[in-house]
Amino acid sequence: MQRTLVLIKPDGVKRRLIGEIIARIERKGYEVVALKTMRADRAILEQHYGEHKGKPFYEPLLEFMLSGPIVAMVVEGQRVIEGFRSIAGATDPTVAAPGSIRGDLARDQGTKVVQNLVHGSDSEESAAREMGIFFPELR
Ligand code: RTP
Ligand code: MG
Repeated sequence: MQRTLVLIKPDGVKRRLIGEIIARIERKGYEVVALKTMRADRAILEQHYGEHKGKPFYEPLLEFMLSGPIVAMVVEGQRVIEGFRSIAGATDPTVAAPGSIRGDLARDQGTKVVQNLVHGSDSEESAAREMGIFFPELR
């Protein structure tokens, strides 16, 4: 059984899409095994987004992620890392496939960094690292 870290970003919380997003995860058949609403601090986000440090969208990304509460979840299921990224859709919501979370519910807002509702780990290594950052109590 595989686990992934899912975040509902501040745009998703502000737009009252927590229920809609969790419903899609559950309808797909995955299990939410841990869940919390929180405000990320800069230190946590610097760890989480370390791979993007130095990129032009890095500072806007951190600012966006600090702009309001987020929801962090551990989601479990066979091949859930790949499966969640599939139901999330492409990073750019303008071209994310209809039927996906980003394709159905997000669009370009003209902001410095793309606001795309959710994050999902992209590999087993990232998932382990990111779950350790957001859910140290599960270790
Ligand atoms: P995520 O990590 O949030 O699940 O998204 P992802 O894998 O689809 O995208 P990634 O390349 O890891 O980028 C992380 C987040 O940074 C923002 N981003 N903006 N060119 C841009 O404006 C740009 N590129 C990335 C997005 O919020 C993206 O989800
Ligand atoms: Mg990513």
